[in-house]
Amino acid sequence: MAPRFQAPRGTRDLLPEELGRWQWAETQARGVLERYGYGEIRTPLFEDFELFARTSGESSDVVQKEMYRFKDLGDRDLALRPEFTAGVMRAFIERGLGGRKRIHRLWSGGPVFRYGRPQKGRYRQFSQVNCELVGSPAPGADVEMITLFVDLYEAWGFRDLTVVLNSVGQPASRRAYGDQLRAWLAPVHGRLSADSQQRLVVNPLRVLDTKDEGDLALFRELGEVPRMLDAIDEADRAHWEAVLAGLESVGVAYEVDHGLVRGLDYYTRTAFEVHDRSLGAQSALGGGGRYDGLIAELGGPPTPGVGFAIGLDRAMLVLEERGAAAPAPPAGIYLAAMEATHAMALALARELRRNLSVELDVEARGFSAQMKAAGKSGARLLVILGEEEWKRGEVAVKDLASGTQETLARAGLAEALGARLAQAPPPVRGGAKETEKP
Ligand code: HAM
Repeated sequence: MAPRFQAPRGTRDLLPEELGRWQWAETQARGVLERYGYGEIRTPLFEDFELFARTSGESSDVVQKEMYRFKDLGDRDLALRPEFTAGVMRAFIERGLGGRKRIHRLWSGGPVFRYGRPQKGRYRQFSQVNCELVGSPAPGADVEMITLFVDLYEAWGFRDLTVVLNSVGQPASRRAYGDQLRAWLAPVHGRLSADSQQRLVVNPLRVLDTKDEGDLALFRELGEVPRMLDAIDEADRAHWEAVLAGLESVGVAYEVDHGLVRGLDYYTRTAFEVHDRSLGAQSALGGGGRYDGLIAELGGPPTPGVGFAIGLDRAMLVLEERGAAAPAPPAGIYLAAMEATHAMALALARELRRNLSVELDVEARGFSAQMKAAGKSGARLLVILGEEEWKRGEVAVKDLASGTQETLARAGLAEALGARLAQAPPPVRGGAKETEKP
């Protein structure tokens, strides 16, 4: 029978054995972000609904269909964050960061919420690593961002990723391009999906993002799709070319994708994503772009910016499917005690745990139950508190990897055990011997 309470649809629990990979990935990411000079910023999990509506765009799917919007007890119109950028820009303006220095490198990580239809790699609560470089309009900022984006995946063991990119121009060139798209689709307008027909009215670029097979067949029938890159102005083109040249000089592989439009409305000029085919329809592992009008749109001083977010759930899913081994936690100590030494074992465990990882039997069961537990625990060293040895100021220590046994003095035990754990396990001589009850 199904349990009475289940995790809400589109959410899931991550258990300790699954979290090993996540924690490792987070540590790797922190290292890369630190080396690139990014500082962490934490903003609230919820904000005014209006902030997200303004940022993502009233017509975006995120606002129209995917927002966790609610009224609090004070009747405020709030929403759980569907992404980080809006909150980070709100904080940038509210805390006056622009007045402190010109260029800001900010990163955030944690859960975000979108009410989509759950499927493989698509959840209603998911995690992002989000980075923003605020204050520079230079193509070099886009190049740094895309390089950091790729370097984060590489730190997790992804190889040969190809970034797809496009220029989405500026609002004026986008309007002109929207008209070209409408004209191009006019002959088949009545046969397009209802969703695409509606997108053609409110935000024609989003039509290019359709997953509808019928729409895609119509596009093929019409031949070559008009290109945004043919509609952008000279300054946008110069920026675009400088970004491509920059990527080439740092050795980041890219492909131009004329159909790349992104799901959020704030982008200007560069837009980029990386995909992994193993994820099927939900193939985007991450994406981002430039947003030069966003801060002014939110009432702040006109300030350019560029950023991206990586979907951690999807990245972890791909690593798991590829069988990339989750890093094992460092093996520690199993502390076994006799009836007479159990109380001492508790105190010793507390002392050792200041620096070392220690497991012991809180139920004070018999010796053989403790030996079984020690075998299952994954511990490297078994420390046995025999009554007689303890009286002599000693403990027995067995290396569970090699089977070698020794007696160590109680004094300086933490240091001696720490030194043994820091060494590679010694070679096995004649297999592990049975551990004798002292
Ligand atoms: P986004 O493309 O909407 O961009 O999301 C980034 C990534 O989050 C996606 O590529 C995907 O890996 C992951 N993602 C999105 N929705 C889901 C979902 N329902 N379940 C699992 N993973 C998902 C942004 O969020 C922008 N704020 C990025 C940005 C920062 N642009 C500029 N600065």
